[in-house]
Amino acid sequence: MRVAATVGATASSSRHRHSSRRSRTGNTKAASGDVAGSGRIPQRRRPARAFTGKDSPTRKRRTIPVGAPSGATAFPNRSSVRSRLKPLLQDMTPEPPALRWRPRRRHAPAGAKPRMTASVADLIGQYDPSLPLAEASTPPAAWYIDPRIAELERRTVFARTWQFAGRLDQLRAPGDYVTCEIAGEPILVVRGGDGVLRGFFNVCRHHAAAVMTQPQGCAKNLRCPYHGWTYTLEGALKGTPSFVDECHFDRGAHGLVPVDIATWEQWVFVRLDREGPTLEEFLGERVIAEVKALRLDRLHWFARQHYLFDCNWKVFVDNYLDGGYHVPHLHKGLNSVLDFRQYTIENGRHHCLQSAPMVQGEIEEFASVRGGARANYYWFHPNFMFNWYEGMMDTNLVLPLGVDRTEVIFDFWFEDVSDAARERNEASIAVGNIVQDEDMAICKSVQRGLQSRAYDTGRLSIRREAGEHLFHLLLHADLSGGL
Ligand code: FES
Ligand SMILES: [Fe+2]
Repeated sequence: MRVAATVGATASSSRHRHSSRRSRTGNTKAASGDVAGSGRIPQRRRPARAFTGKDSPTRKRRTIPVGAPSGATAFPNRSSVRSRLKPLLQDMTPEPPALRWRPRRRHAPAGAKPRMTASVADLIGQYDPSLPLAEASTPPAAWYIDPRIAELERRTVFARTWQFAGRLDQLRAPGDYVTCEIAGEPILVVRGGDGVLRGFFNVCRHHAAAVMTQPQGCAKNLRCPYHGWTYTLEGALKGTPSFVDECHFDRGAHGLVPVDIATWEQWVFVRLDREGPTLEEFLGERVIAEVKALRLDRLHWFARQHYLFDCNWKVFVDNYLDGGYHVPHLHKGLNSVLDFRQYTIENGRHHCLQSAPMVQGEIEEFASVRGGARANYYWFHPNFMFNWYEGMMDTNLVLPLGVDRTEVIFDFWFEDVSDAARERNEASIAVGNIVQDEDMAICKSVQRGLQSRAYDTGRLSIRREAGEHLFHLLLHADLSGGL
């Protein structure tokens, strides 16, 4: 049985319930290891970028394969795939969620000084959202390198939008919980004893320690590790060791502080701001129906990987949204299975769908694991994507770690997660790693270029970069709203 997909059920209103539950297999157990005008800087021509093999990516990668038997990584006659898979399967150690948001002060390059001394309002004002795509440019480079913009993004872009918090397969049974950090805030999502999914700030009402410290798990109650205060799965304060006759202490007023949550397809989202559209309103009926038709409910979570990019989070998103512009140049393997000439870009209000017909490529490594009629690449403002191919998808969650450091969490889903399909699924992930390696290197190169005195903004391709333009317009709206 599979989890029913619903949209818009919130903790404070209608709740998402599971009428049925898939049996807990080794898969889910293994998951325990595991977001104008006047002050405008004149445009300059984009200087040619020297991209060399010296930009070797640094990467930290952790994979949590589902119920992987040791030794399940042998791929006879596929040495290149095998060598890529080996590191994927080495580290299965659960890692507590680190506090992610640390905007880092950095020395501005000499040529960039005027940008850095401009006020935040001036920097936002340098982007002209009234220009049509044919006249538009990228936001000023300062948006990508100035810690003040990163801080404004935290308060606006990330705190006011629905942010991915977890997967429904992690939250099936009462007591199942996930923790994460959203816009610098520790967040906990837990399924109550009554079967209702709720979100809370993962902050103890005693002296503010994180109540739950693992990325996910199943608990009978929520016990703070600091002084042992205990909360029910529904967030009520239950136990307060050593509290006896404290005056005016109202236990009932010291429950965990709730946060709004919503579910859609296979995912749970949280929004810190109480104001704003529901997730359903944000997405819109059309895209909800479109995605439903892809039958994501047939897919099963298989593995997670973490990638560290040496760039601002928006560099990753820009790269993703360039309409396949870079694919023939940077991704020879991926390009071999896509019909680049028929690549389409469709913008919604808050999302972009990039799509291309698949072709039978000549690079076997890719052709063997990327099939079907079309590839659909969905981006949802600001930082969540899923890439869908027939029988599989991967989701991307883009999390800023600092102004020039980004973590991207990939979850890999397959229709067939049986042992018989393991080798092919792992080969598919390995192929994805090739693409990520290529993107990591170019994103690092772009981040360095953005700090150059030679660069401020760049023009956009009408044919290719409409999605990127939408992203910039939405960013501008979010940032302007926080001034
Ligand atoms: S901070 Fe949680 S019990 Fe003291
Ligand atoms: Fe790419």
